[in-house]
Amino acid sequence: MKEVKIETTLEVYDSIEDTSETVQNLMKVAVEARNKAYSPYSRFDVGAAILLDNGEIISGSNQENASYPSGLCAERTAIYYAGAKYPKAKMLKMALTASSQNQLTLQPIPPCGACRQAIAEYEVKQNLPIEIYFMGAKGKVVKSKSLANLLPLVFESSVL
Ligand code: THU
Repeated sequence: MKEVKIETTLEVYDSIEDTSETVQNLMKVAVEARNKAYSPYSRFDVGAAILLDNGEIISGSNQENASYPSGLCAERTAIYYAGAKYPKAKMLKMALTASSQNQLTLQPIPPCGACRQAIAEYEVKQNLPIEIYFMGAKGKVVKSKSLANLLPLVFESSVL
């Protein structure tokens, strides 16, 4: 038996103002998307904005459903729209923000496991890391230089 240790590296910014103008603008779009979340069941609003290499920004919010599993997270709403609208464009950066309607969300909220898997698909496809920035309603922002840092031992197409 051999123990294998997996480590990851993230960067933490005290606030969105400490990031570049590009990231601040991307997060602003994510907040606007978050404000359009359809989340009557969880009352948890999430917004995602993706910067493409053609300069376009695609955003999305979580869309819930009375049949709960039929709903979709903000990240996948945005990334599938980006993939559908600009299939040849590369995704450079993704900004995420989440805010509960029940309490002030001050901690950075990372993408769920299913969304990490969905983002990984595009990172592998384009062979270029996607930078991920995530925060709560405000406060600290966490940056991952690549989706791979958030999903060690990724399952991807080369094994099929
Ligand atoms: N949600 C997202 O939009 N993204 C995530 O990464 C985690 C969860 C949404 C799904 C659901 O509408 C609500 O947040 C509560 O889980």
